[in-house]
Amino acid sequence: MSHLAFLLVCILRGMTTPGATPPDPALASDFGSLDFQAQSEGAVYHWMNGMIVPRPIAFVTSVSEEGVVNGAPFSYFNAVTASPPVLSIAVGRREGVPKDTSRNIRRSGQFVVNVCSVDLAGSISLAAGDFPADQSEIEVAGLTLLPSTRISVPRVANSPIHLECELERVVELGEGPVDLILGRIVFVHFRKDLLDDEGRIDPARLDPLARMAGLSFGRVGDFFEVPRGLS
Ligand SMILES: Cc1cc2nc3c(=O)[nH]c(=O)nc-3n(C[C@H](O)[C@H](O)[C@H](O)COP(=O)(O)O)c2cc1C
Repeated sequence: MSHLAFLLVCILRGMTTPGATPPDPALASDFGSLDFQAQSEGAVYHWMNGMIVPRPIAFVTSVSEEGVVNGAPFSYFNAVTASPPVLSIAVGRREGVPKDTSRNIRRSGQFVVNVCSVDLAGSISLAAGDFPADQSEIEVAGLTLLPSTRISVPRVANSPIHLECELERVVELGEGPVDLILGRIVFVHFRKDLLDDEGRIDPARLDPLARMAGLSFGRVGDFFEVPRGLS
């Protein structure tokens, strides 16, 4: 795409173009500010949930010592690096007590990230309830399991993408503390109908579920391409 065409696309889409306006200190009055270190834990949680959006959702399956399959959603989740293929999930604690997901992953060293599409919003919210460790959220949410290939933790057939993970390490953060789980992806499964003609995941077919703040979710749409650089 030529520079001119790129500028035209930017203007039509209402995007700011580099160098379009000089720095203007007067614009600072448009912004509210917060000293994050002076905020309560609850306030920080709400601000972060509202500001860092949209977040993808990992519906994580793990297995307890007694063999109960646990399922729970986590939106403090993302890719960390592709080489090695590592993802992260931040699992909080309940009054200092680790959640089942964290306990199971530490014990077995294995888990599956089941990627969430929009149609899973209801079931994963149901599964997020505070259930005893001997009760499987998978049954409560009416989900169907499939065996995994490399690990013994099953995956969820209702999800379009399954990332089989082995625990890389757990980093404890803060006083709570929160367990930042780093998992290495060792095997993946994807629904065949997600692929476009070039064999790539088509985001429109994936229809990824996005987590916003509070009880709010979103649908990611209106995909467009923007060239890099100006040449
Ligand atoms: C959409 C969604 C996203 C969530 N994200 C997180 C998260 O990133 N970290 C966390 O600790 N809890 C998160 N939760 C809450 C957990 O899912 C919830 O505490 C769950 O009961 C944990 O289950 P477990 O004890 O079986 O591991 C989320 C809940 C929902 C509905």
